[in-house]
Amino acid sequence: MLKKIHVKDVKQGMFLQEICGSWMDHPFWKKSFTLTDPQDIKTLNECGIQEIWIDIEKGIDVDSSVTAESEEDQKNKIENSLLQAEKFTPKAIPRVSLQEEVDKARLIHSKSKAAVFSMFQEARMGKALQLTEVTSLVDEIGQSISRNPEAFLSLARLKTKDNYTYLHSVAVCALMIALGKQMGLEENLLQELGMAGLLHDVGKMMIPEDVLNKPGRLTDDEFTVIKNHPQRGWEILKGSPGVNEMALEVCLHHHEKMDGSGYPDKLSGEAISLFARMGAVCDVYDAITSVRCYKSGWEPAEAIRKMAEWQEGHFDKNVFHAFVKTIGIHPSGTLLRLKSGRLAVVIQQSEKSLLTPIVKAFFSTKSNAPIEPEIIDLAKSPDAIQCAEDAAKWGFDLKKLVGI
Ligand SMILES: [Fe+2]
Ligand SMILES: [Fe+2]
Repeated sequence: MLKKIHVKDVKQGMFLQEICGSWMDHPFWKKSFTLTDPQDIKTLNECGIQEIWIDIEKGIDVDSSVTAESEEDQKNKIENSLLQAEKFTPKAIPRVSLQEEVDKARLIHSKSKAAVFSMFQEARMGKALQLTEVTSLVDEIGQSISRNPEAFLSLARLKTKDNYTYLHSVAVCALMIALGKQMGLEENLLQELGMAGLLHDVGKMMIPEDVLNKPGRLTDDEFTVIKNHPQRGWEILKGSPGVNEMALEVCLHHHEKMDGSGYPDKLSGEAISLFARMGAVCDVYDAITSVRCYKSGWEPAEAIRKMAEWQEGHFDKNVFHAFVKTIGIHPSGTLLRLKSGRLAVVIQQSEKSLLTPIVKAFFSTKSNAPIEPEIIDLAKSPDAIQCAEDAAKWGFDLKKLVGI
């Protein structure tokens, strides 16, 4: 049985099931383990993590005086908090279908990957960044997002552990533009947001690769080196021509948290600029949905729920809700069971409600057999979502079904 507790209530002998925070926030890599080393408890208390899940069947329980939350309480709280995003402005309707956009998006994505790779190599060699090529690419990414955000965003999630940093930069660029659009920001700011997203982690080029990609627990010194990347990135950007204030700001402060427990400056609340608060949300989402050398990524639906769970103290509430509206409660590519017994994959968000995406039904659980694929707009159908299903368990190739 799992209980969620505050880190100040953690004791030796507890079984740590999961840390409530992004992988960049703590030096632990082991998924779950028994807390035996007092140093681990000290690190947990110092690294800015607020809460953890413990399994009281595998380790000791909390004292009866300590407040702990059950999984069920958490689940309800998360779904309710996600639904608050419904209050935000309607989602913009894509101008073209995902199928129409996906080939163009693929081309822009592969050009961006190559351009970011060579730009970051220059940074690694200590040279100033040349932004000319990437400036026009950020424009192209923005245009693709305007035509259909889900085409580029779906492609941007696909990474391998070797090209993570470059493709993460491209993904955060696209997410920043999509989020800015959802928040109604002006066109010229969207271009700046995209560029800020693209450059936010350039400081990682100054971290030795064996530390950056270490598939084990980081030592205190290694974790300090990793946490220096915003400052190192800021220095590179400061010395490069044509880098605007927003990119400098997002680079330096994308790891700050609303409660002041982030880094490097421990800023809190409004002291963190809106653009850095947007960067924090886009950065964490892409990091936890990506495959890393030490971790496989979460599906978007799960990632959104994890972020809802951590949002208190970490993210700006309004920015997070706008982000939920951008990605969806049932993001594209999610496998759903409908009340009719059909299995369907989400192919597009709806401008009406987060609960009624457009889906492609392709399998009947009643006859346990494939059916002729049918596109269903759940806002206009008597059918509705029953629950999310585990795609890995069913073994379907959802990427193919979505068309990416
Ligand atoms: Fe970062
Ligand atoms: Fe990042």
